[in-house]
Amino acid sequence: MDERGATLQIGENSLDLPGIKANVGNDGLNISKLRPNHGIVTYDPGFANTASTRSTITYVDGNAGLLTHRGYPIEELANSCSFLEVAYLLLYGDLPTKRQLEAWQASMQRHSLLNEEMKRFFDAFPKRAHPMAILSSATNAISTFYEEYHNPNDEESVIESAQRLLAKMPTIAAFAYKKSTGFPYIYPRNDLRYVENFLHMMFALPTEEYHVDPVIAKALNVLLILHADHGQNCSTATVRFVGSSQANLFASVAAGMNALWGPLHGGANQAVIEMLSNIANDPNATTESAIARAKDKNDDFRLMGFGHRVYKNYDPRARILKKFADDVLDRVKGDDPLLKVAEELEYAALNDEYFSSRNLYPNVDFYSGIIFRALGFPVRMFTVLFAIGRLPGWIANWKEMTEDPDTRIARPRQIYLGETTREFIPLHKR
Ligand code: CMC
Repeated sequence: MDERGATLQIGENSLDLPGIKANVGNDGLNISKLRPNHGIVTYDPGFANTASTRSTITYVDGNAGLLTHRGYPIEELANSCSFLEVAYLLLYGDLPTKRQLEAWQASMQRHSLLNEEMKRFFDAFPKRAHPMAILSSATNAISTFYEEYHNPNDEESVIESAQRLLAKMPTIAAFAYKKSTGFPYIYPRNDLRYVENFLHMMFALPTEEYHVDPVIAKALNVLLILHADHGQNCSTATVRFVGSSQANLFASVAAGMNALWGPLHGGANQAVIEMLSNIANDPNATTESAIARAKDKNDDFRLMGFGHRVYKNYDPRARILKKFADDVLDRVKGDDPLLKVAEELEYAALNDEYFSSRNLYPNVDFYSGIIFRALGFPVRMFTVLFAIGRLPGWIANWKEMTEDPDTRIARPRQIYLGETTREFIPLHKR
């Protein structure tokens, strides 16, 4: 389609809808004159057909099963980069030079500590609190220490806030975990790199030496990269939506975390392991019964880790993770009966007409949990790990939104189906 776009016929009238040419992928039609000129709005549940923005960060080709960040295929980034390099790429648009990366790493180290008063904040949560609730609350809470950096239109403040968020997120996540175990919080160590530092804060105890296993650090690095960004998914769209009101970056990201927590989004990685464990441990639950339940329209059970709004082919992240699960289990010398259940379930689903006719394939969450488990993370931390990974994508999208001259406060319309004007009846007569 070219920039002439299309002409829409509405009764006797016609409206030209200018085209917006994409570099690759779906072109767009600008429908912004439809309501002012004709009093008609578009209806698109779940925004499945709506581009809420133009973006230069991430491209997903759902039919080809392709994912690129700033033009680089995810496979190459996962193979060759550190998570911080990918975070830099997402935020600034280019891979860092050696000097830029050193400065970027140094800024992460400079900001990794939390204000000491935050310890009381973590203490106030019940021990059983879900770490996602703590993560999003703490992300909002730390904004109160940096109010002078809240202005979304001040570039320096935005970069400072972005660095603080990235640097402190592993500390917040590890503190949230320590809270649930009752063991002492472990402070960040600036002689360690980003991923190693996180693993140290998670698993070290003050009473003994803890050495980060390089195999585990490498695997976690890849996992974080695979989660780093994914276009206008539910949490990223939420971050942009909230940020469009000029809410600060911390508040916008905290909102995105809450969107991520849902089981249809990032919460699926926890739900997958719960589903696989159920099949492995409950004699009444089998792969066959799981498939049958997922197909039953009267049952709200879904095959967790299957299906995707955009991918109508194998999710490239799942493809990498499936192979990676074998490697990681080999290297940590672990064996996980859930991997076998997952492979059986995948085989059964891919050979079932219900799933193949709907193009339902494993997504990123199907195999990630098995690897997180092998690395020693508890199930309730899985979505937190997704959040640490997705943080650069949220920040990059928020920044792109604030810099886009087309940005307006997000304010969708509705098609009203309720009562029209009714006669008011005073309370004593009702
Ligand atoms: N199990 C059984 N049926 C499914 C599944 C599933 N996991 N996913 C989709 N379907 C069916 C759905 O019932 C519908 O069938 P029909 O056409 O007969 O009504 C059809 O496939 C299309 O599904 P949809 O719900 O219209 O698709 P969507 O784009 O609105 O939803 C999804 C996408 C990811 C929410 C959905 O596939 C799902 O619920 N999957 C399970 C949860 C999950 O794994 N989420 C992680 C997503 S990937 C990472 C991330 O974003 O965090």
